[in-house]
Amino acid sequence: KKLSIIGMPMDLGQLRRGVDMGPSAIRYAEVVERLKTLFDEIEDLGDIPVGRPEVVIDRESKLRNLELVTEKNGKLAEEVDKVVQRGWFPLVLGGDHSIAIGTLAGVSKHYKNLGVIWYDAHGDLNTADTSPSGNIHGMPLAVSMGIGHKMLTELGGYCPKVSPENIVIIGARALDEGEKDLIKEKGIKVYTMHEIDRMGMAKVMEETIAYLKNRTDGVHLSLDLDGLDPQDAPGVGTPVFGGITYRESHLAMEMLAEANLITSAEFVEVNPILDERNKTAKVAVELMGSLFGEKLL
Ligand code: ARG
Ligand code: MN
Ligand code: MN
Ligand code: MN
Repeated sequence: KKLSIIGMPMDLGQLRRGVDMGPSAIRYAEVVERLKTLFDEIEDLGDIPVGRPEVVIDRESKLRNLELVTEKNGKLAEEVDKVVQRGWFPLVLGGDHSIAIGTLAGVSKHYKNLGVIWYDAHGDLNTADTSPSGNIHGMPLAVSMGIGHKMLTELGGYCPKVSPENIVIIGARALDEGEKDLIKEKGIKVYTMHEIDRMGMAKVMEETIAYLKNRTDGVHLSLDLDGLDPQDAPGVGTPVFGGITYRESHLAMEMLAEANLITSAEFVEVNPILDERNKTAKVAVELMGSLFGEKLL
């Protein structure tokens, strides 16, 4: 098993600067050290150049920074594509969640029926019409289903990247009206905080794994650190109280490791400017350890 790490210092999908330093914060938390023993080989490909166009940032548009987000995600898609082609496991470090558009564009062409686990407080199912913010980081899951602006949905030259019945959202507790409508219309499987409280994380993951295992030939994990409670992961741009705990998250990752289900992953929305002594990046690295099979005994 070989792991390839790609940094995506993207902050153009939303308005809070600093999330572009997420990959650095995660590397500073010793991601390579932590995962070294869990793989035969591990490589860090460095960052995709995103640049720092603070002055051109578009504060008005209904699809903020559409051209740049599209262009940079195209570059990410190419890198991820090459990694999968070589047979390595791609692990993308974000960056705001708009980077899932690029990751999935690079990954999905290699599968007939890709599954996606969206571990997040949010649905990220908005379009320009339903978005309250115009921030593209609130849209990547809709885009990946083929819903949204053509520049984004057609990235990589094919569309869609994932079908609604292959998606499981875990941790949802902040959904916009349009997102709720889309979830119902498409029949997307969602475990909100209510189900996590009621069933327990173990049952949620058992069901998720059973559901995805027999309908997909690969599963991408898109983990937004704001899926966790802000007490455990404070360094995020859009925190929502009442989230998944640190322990529940470790259990979720350990069960995914046991099931040997995940074929690509990204950890996004780590913003060290908003963090407490790099706590959120450290949590991300610890969760990666569990996801890739780290065990106490
Ligand atoms: N739903 C809100 C929006 O569309 C918040 C999205 C937050 N997304 C995220 N990846 N943190 O703006
Ligand atoms: Mn910037
Ligand atoms: Mn989120
Ligand atoms: Mn998100």
